[in-house]
Amino acid sequence: MIICVGAGPGDLGLLTQRGAELVHTADVVAGFDAVVDLVRPLIRSDARIVTMGYRDQVQRLDEVADAHRAGARCVVVFMGDIHFSGFQFLERVERACGERIETVPGISSAQVLASRGRVCFDETTFVTFHRRGTIDPFKRHLVRALEDDRNAIIIPRPWDFMPKDIAAYLLARGVRGDHPVEVWENLTSREAQWVGSLASCTHEFSDMSIMLIRTLRPMPSQIEPEPIA
Ligand SMILES: C[S@@+](CC[C@H](N)C(=O)[O-])C[C@H]1O[C@@H](n2cnc3c(N)ncnc32)[C@H](O)[C@@H]1O
Repeated sequence: MIICVGAGPGDLGLLTQRGAELVHTADVVAGFDAVVDLVRPLIRSDARIVTMGYRDQVQRLDEVADAHRAGARCVVVFMGDIHFSGFQFLERVERACGERIETVPGISSAQVLASRGRVCFDETTFVTFHRRGTIDPFKRHLVRALEDDRNAIIIPRPWDFMPKDIAAYLLARGVRGDHPVEVWENLTSREAQWVGSLASCTHEFSDMSIMLIRTLRPMPSQIEPEPIA
């Protein structure tokens, strides 16, 4: 048995009960070092832990796939939710196992940001640049979303497309500099918030940051309802 579990944004209180049970009953718990560290208090002392980094993930996932074929209950933990900025890793797990794998969703950093910033999903576009390969179509999608008067919640790319690069790109594409912007770091653990505008977003942030660009128009959710006559 093998299952992929979203571990939530950092605070174990935001890991689902189902996810916690699966981690606790697993024979093998695998994932990137920082994510395994989050769920470590739930891992049984006799369980095997397989941690990995970007360089050795394929090799380590092959070990997990072997354990799965040998009948071990394996859980692969993902940061936040699997379904936002997690699919490249999911594809690697599935490639190692040679089959489609069940997923248990988690609470994403994007959901926590939406809650902190009080933005409505329906009026917001979610974009991740945290992926291998070209990000050009996602950049264009972000410009169109802002032109369409939607908020945007954005996961930057730590190695070359951080909030200041995103802001510079958008300004160069004619997006107005007075869009309100927030950047949140380490949500649910050592949170820090920066508030400013697209034009003033020139700061450095850590890899664990997520960005909110607000639309300039009041969204339907911000408009007071008409009194009923
Ligand atoms: C590969 S993406 C995975 C996102 C994850 N699947 C999710 O749903 O939050 C990793 C990036 O998400 C962002 N991120 C994840 N957790 C975060 C948190 N607690 N606070 C701020 N940013 C976070 C950071 O930009 C981090 O580099």
